[in-house]
Amino acid sequence: MNIHTYEKTWLAVSMVLIVGFIATVTYGAVGPGIAMIDDDGGSIDPDTINDDERFSDPGVTHVGGNEYEAAVVAQAWTYTPSEITVPANSTVTFYVTSRDVTHSYTVAGTNMNTMVVPGQISEMTVEFDEPGEYGILCNEYCGAYHHTMEGKLNVVPQDEFDLTELSTEAPGEAQLGNQTTINTTVSNDMNYDLETTATLDIGDQQSLEQDVTVPAHGSETVEFAVDTTDLGTGDHDWTVTVDGHEESDTLTVTNATEGGDGDA
Ligand code: CUA
Repeated sequence: MNIHTYEKTWLAVSMVLIVGFIATVTYGAVGPGIAMIDDDGGSIDPDTINDDERFSDPGVTHVGGNEYEAAVVAQAWTYTPSEITVPANSTVTFYVTSRDVTHSYTVAGTNMNTMVVPGQISEMTVEFDEPGEYGILCNEYCGAYHHTMEGKLNVVPQDEFDLTELSTEAPGEAQLGNQTTINTTVSNDMNYDLETTATLDIGDQQSLEQDVTVPAHGSETVEFAVDTTDLGTGDHDWTVTVDGHEESDTLTVTNATEGGDGDA
């Protein structure tokens, strides 16, 4: 059988194209190391998210070594937490779920992207090498303010990263002669105990120090007893410092007598 030369050429070109198409699809699936989100993350009842250990207090947690977990809850039209901070040279596994409708968790400028479906937990593990800042956005239409649904991802140098948080309870006012307390709760989301010193500077004279050990994934409250007689009446600025974190406010010491400006 005689095949026309042109026919042969087109046959050859078609074969090359077919092989080429299969090669590009194969490369796209395997070559760049892109992993698809599957059902590894498991499922969750969207109505009981607040009772879930992982999602009731979402955020970044240290797992061990340079591994971290980040739990995120999406809902119209925000992410909780909206800002995620992780250290460079870390591996972070994200667990994202939705409280209401389908959203996405898309980190702009990277290949990090997943749909977030109510009832499902999307799990993805990402390696962060270099410090940087990225925008997070929702690319699944989720209602009137879909376009405002955004977050932020910060990758910070390792020495700027920790998972210590302070929350201080202090009275705004105290009576002269009474003792008052300033309580600071230090929380630690690292996988090891935090041994540090809590310092309270108040007024011109008082500086109180207390050693504190905060257990891994736990918190500890430090109680500072403040002597108002030492301070005297007036406004006194105070600052609590723990492990490089600070909280400050003002304590007003008033005269014990009603009315304030007696003859004390
Ligand atoms: Cu959430 Cu669009």
